[in-house]
Amino acid sequence: MNDNLWYRDAVFYEIAVKSFHDSNNDGIGDFNGLTMKLEYLKNLGIDAIWLLPFYKSPLRDDGYDISDYYSILPEYGTMEDFKNFISKAHSYSIRVIADLVINHISDQNQWFIDARSDKNSKKRDWFIWNDTPDKFKDARIIFIDTENSNWAYEAGTKQYYFHRFYSQQPDLNYDNPEVREEMKNVIRYWLNLGLDGFRADAVPYLFKREGTSCENLPETHEYFKEIRKMMDIEFPGTILLAEANQWPTEAKKYFGNGDEFHMAFNFPLMPRIFISLAKRSNRSIIDIINQISDIPDDCDWCIFLRNHDELTLEMVTDEERDIMYNEYAKLPKMRLNMGIRRRLAPLVDNDRSTIELLNALIFSLPGTPILYYGDELGMGDNIYLGDRNGVRTPMQWSYDRNAGFSKVDAEQLYAPVITNPNYHYESVNVESELRISSSLLNWMKKIIGVRKDYKELLGRGAIEFINNKNQRVLAYIRKYENQRMLCLFNLSRRPTYVELDLSNYKGLKPIEAFTKAPFPRIGDLNYFITIPPRGFFWFNLIIPETDDSMDFEGEDNY
Ligand code: GLC
Ligand code: CA
Repeated sequence: MNDNLWYRDAVFYEIAVKSFHDSNNDGIGDFNGLTMKLEYLKNLGIDAIWLLPFYKSPLRDDGYDISDYYSILPEYGTMEDFKNFISKAHSYSIRVIADLVINHISDQNQWFIDARSDKNSKKRDWFIWNDTPDKFKDARIIFIDTENSNWAYEAGTKQYYFHRFYSQQPDLNYDNPEVREEMKNVIRYWLNLGLDGFRADAVPYLFKREGTSCENLPETHEYFKEIRKMMDIEFPGTILLAEANQWPTEAKKYFGNGDEFHMAFNFPLMPRIFISLAKRSNRSIIDIINQISDIPDDCDWCIFLRNHDELTLEMVTDEERDIMYNEYAKLPKMRLNMGIRRRLAPLVDNDRSTIELLNALIFSLPGTPILYYGDELGMGDNIYLGDRNGVRTPMQWSYDRNAGFSKVDAEQLYAPVITNPNYHYESVNVESELRISSSLLNWMKKIIGVRKDYKELLGRGAIEFINNKNQRVLAYIRKYENQRMLCLFNLSRRPTYVELDLSNYKGLKPIEAFTKAPFPRIGDLNYFITIPPRGFFWFNLIIPETDDSMDFEGEDNY
């Protein structure tokens, strides 16, 4: 296998340095704390980590407002700590990618301080200025709960500057070649320190043109192709993952002809998984997968259920958005901007079968799965913390003080740990869950292991949907070379049955992948199967060596 394609078979895990583990007991997680927890990630089966921004920042947008691109936020540790973390991660064969935030910077960044101070400043043209806030009228506002314009007034020089996100995050001017060059230097700098690639933030917005939505412009694609080329030549084996929250046709374009991003988050699929559950119908998933499956060779969708942001509902219809709010965000506090700020477990009312089904989907649909820290434990959230902070609380390691995250007084933590009785850290934590075989954490370890045993489940396998009359059941086969996995999901909350036309697979025998339980071989008739509420099956289809009559012989280890 070509090792440069490592991302295709990997399981990713998203981490905020601040939230994982506090090694020096100041209430804030740090790189040394992260290093101490690498073994946990290795045992879970994680192959790659995505680090949220850890650069110097006034933290107006939790680090997505960078004030110095070449340094680390002191609270998170030193450059030595960072390098040590990377080399330890690599020694566990865990790769590390980091956020690359290049659309905008912090207004505390020296570049902007210079630019705003004087119209003749050398840095003035690094940003986008106008005498009125009337330019780029068709560019939508993203943080609609906070901002009412993409322009902010700079009183000193009596002009407005453009910002796509918070007003403290001025956008860079990509028409300026110095800006384009500087960001390439930033990329080189961190790759030289050992990073394995980047999750590029807010990619659609780099270039702006009057009369357009200022999203997905050809110039933006061109620039990322240049970056890709540079990375391929100077840092082979490193990757680019796109955060492009767009409609399917636009999202797909970030793969270019296989010469732009290696991966892109599957924003088209994510909300439609939840919509399928809410509607108890397989249609939304099948439709979207059919629309987005033709991507260039060696590219992959990165499949996720939740992340550090609100579950965005910008790219769904009004009707779909209503369905989502009704099903998953009954209280107004659960909503933010155009989305839902909840973690996975609370989102589905802590229903274990639903949590398992959702994970079984992202571990078997084509693409590379990515987990959000803590969701493997079934961590809760805190909707009473502002912005998206409710899904960014400390990782829960044990039932000790502060969930084993830090030894400070609770008041000193960067955010309170979760103490809601249904999700209390005294029971929802790594140590407790490792002790009990039926825990979600142990189940997650299991499913990650099972996925790794079957190549057809990995990114490169093909998918074939199996038609059936019962829309409650999603049925597909993943294939790779001569291996096939039949995957069945009951999206509804009641038991149900399906009759599947598996005539193409006649003679093969389904073996349930988790327990190796045998099922009757596929014959001439439709294959009939019942599935419990929100249940799922993965069946490895094998060429049988024994008769079905032998199915109940032998030991059962489960
Ligand atoms: C991305 C990040 C989000 C951040 C925004 C602005 O969407 O995921 O957390 O606020 O970009 O940088
Ligand atoms: Ca610390």
